[in-house]
Amino acid sequence: MASKISVLALLPLALANLDKPVIQPNFPGGGLASLGQGLLDNLKPTQSTSDVWGAGWIPADCKSLVQGAGLSPNDITPFNIHYTDCSQTWTFCRHKDSPLSQTDIIDLFGRVPVRMRDYIRHYVFIPGNKSAGSSGDNTLMVGDVDITVFLHEIGHSLDSHAFDPSYGVPFSTGNVWISNYNQDSAVTDSYAQSSQQENFAQETVVSVYDKNVPGGIGNIQPNWQAIFHQYATLEGYIGDTIIPGGTCVNRLTDSQPVTMSNSAKFRRTLGPKPTVSLSPDVKEIKPIPMADSIKMTSFDEHGKPNGTYVINL
Ligand SMILES: *[C@@H]1O[C@H](CO)[C@@H](O)[C@H](O)[C@H]1NC(C)=O
Ligand SMILES: *[C@@H]1O[C@H](CO)[C@@H](O)[C@H](O)[C@H]1NC(C)=O
Repeated sequence: MASKISVLALLPLALANLDKPVIQPNFPGGGLASLGQGLLDNLKPTQSTSDVWGAGWIPADCKSLVQGAGLSPNDITPFNIHYTDCSQTWTFCRHKDSPLSQTDIIDLFGRVPVRMRDYIRHYVFIPGNKSAGSSGDNTLMVGDVDITVFLHEIGHSLDSHAFDPSYGVPFSTGNVWISNYNQDSAVTDSYAQSSQQENFAQETVVSVYDKNVPGGIGNIQPNWQAIFHQYATLEGYIGDTIIPGGTCVNRLTDSQPVTMSNSAKFRRTLGPKPTVSLSPDVKEIKPIPMADSIKMTSFDEHGKPNGTYVINL
């Protein structure tokens, strides 16, 4: 049965919904990709082992994202990563033509502080022009995305889950965030201008850099005072979540295994059905259901966000 496939047209970057200008001078390249090297130099990879899923099975959320993007689930390899700092596996999905290898993916995600990794369900990696989007705590990664994109997308899940709900859910829509935003004179870039949620996700990248790279964000941005209240609020309220160390404490339950193909002729080649359950050592995070579409942001060759498109699921 063919799925409904529709990728809507590319649009220029959304109209600025926030009223503050982009910081001057701009971050090098215009987006936050220039923070990538310092992050890679200071966030160490986590040891891990991995294994691939039984033939023919795929997590349900991976399947809907892959089909939404117009690709075949049969070209996907779902794999488990067992990091030494978490009793619970992560299951990610990689298309055979993704420019990021399984090793690249395990390395990059393993550099993210474990208490941030907690908030990601599935990552799905497919080929195409560099872009990314997040829905239901899953992220669709297109092309050769860098660590700042990983952090930005996790930022969306932190915004929904990682703060005391009395400050607002998402945190970026509550009074604490808005009143501190109001004390600043700028935002990081045009991506941040598109909404408070995107602004928060960009500030997540700034905060992780500021807390983990010696010298902090002033290494790259001489006018850091213009965005100080935003990243300092994020750092203060989120605490050690963005600092490496510790173990996982909260996790999202993975989506259920489904068959890659709906056709009966593949059933004979199915491997054993993978089991999906939460380790007793972790507390379940209440999941956000996947929406019926996912808004993707595309990036230019310098890592500057330059457009959006929508994938219907
Ligand atoms: C990538 O973008 C170019 C135009 O910039 C377009 O022609 C091409 O079809 C895109 N590739 C994919 C896989 O979407
Ligand atoms: C964004 O930049 C990429 C890489 O230069 C380019 O292929 C793509 O067409 C651009 N997208 C928009 C909407 O301008």
